[in-house]
Amino acid sequence: MSDAIRFEDKVVVVTGAGGGIGRAHALLFARHGARVVVNDLGGSTHGEGANASAADRVVAEIREAGGTAVASHDSVTDGEKIVQAALDHFGRVDVVVNNAGILRDKTFHKMEDADWDLVYKVHVEGAYKVTRAAWPHMREQGYGRVIFTSSTSGIYGNFGQSNYGMAKLGLYGLTRNLAIEGRKNNILVNAIAPTGGTRMTEGLIPPQVFEQLKPELVSPLVVFLGSEQCQETSGLFEVGGGWIGKVRWERSLGFGFDPKAGFDAEDVAANWKAICDFEGAAHPADNVEALREMMANLQKYAL
Ligand code: NAI
Repeated sequence: MSDAIRFEDKVVVVTGAGGGIGRAHALLFARHGARVVVNDLGGSTHGEGANASAADRVVAEIREAGGTAVASHDSVTDGEKIVQAALDHFGRVDVVVNNAGILRDKTFHKMEDADWDLVYKVHVEGAYKVTRAAWPHMREQGYGRVIFTSSTSGIYGNFGQSNYGMAKLGLYGLTRNLAIEGRKNNILVNAIAPTGGTRMTEGLIPPQVFEQLKPELVSPLVVFLGSEQCQETSGLFEVGGGWIGKVRWERSLGFGFDPKAGFDAEDVAANWKAICDFEGAAHPADNVEALREMMANLQKYAL
């Protein structure tokens, strides 16, 4: 058993914590001693309406269990208000868990601007606003942990979720970039792609499996990623049902043409198998590593 993970001196913001997976995160952080801002607008899965009771109920649960929490009923698109609540009540912000989310599933040919825009706004703009507001405080104190909530629908794609998949993989792009910028100030940034039986997945997952995919099974990973013990950054983890795995990019070693001699579409077609061959594939961790084979090709054909 490793050292206990505690948050007595830490303030944690969990967005969309009035239900589902976010509620489980908030309860577990509080059990680990964190002071928690339980944020939730309290709308529907489709992003309609608002109701303060969602966040209030979770705050009451935490307090009844002896923990410390306050509610924030703002939308994540007003992220600065959520962070302000952390500062007003607890004087700091150490961990941001961007979890709030909605669905507007539609096939692309039926997609309307409103469905596209709202999904972008809640997931991407919302996560940006909350994180952007917390960022200067994390920089100043030389400590921060940020967790974004991605999805396998973004990583692998899913029928009828082009808006959602776009937003969810966008959050992974944000993760990778903020991890680079945050490192020197000890701000570590990771993403999770969870699976949990919540109102969002009810009716989509067979009932027996739904029951077993308890939202609580996602939270230990998030609490670890939010902790001082965690030194991981830029990671993407699939998590659910008691299982956790790490995702990384894999790219074929590719096929190099002579850039001076020129090549055409037929040459691409003729070498398609080699271009797509994953034998001995590369796993670039950053831009420099990603460019290695391309640069080697230039060198190979240099005069
Ligand atoms: P949920 O619907 O139970 O929880 C989402 C919460 O976010 C709700 O309480 C909702 O009121 C809140 N919320 C929505 N818009 C908000 C806004 N503008 N401001 C503040 N709060 C807002 O859904 P669930 O399943 O717990 O989802 C949590 C996160 O996990 C979401 O980001 C979702 O996209 C993601 N996710 C969930 C999966 C699953 O299997 N349940 C799969 C992949 C990703």
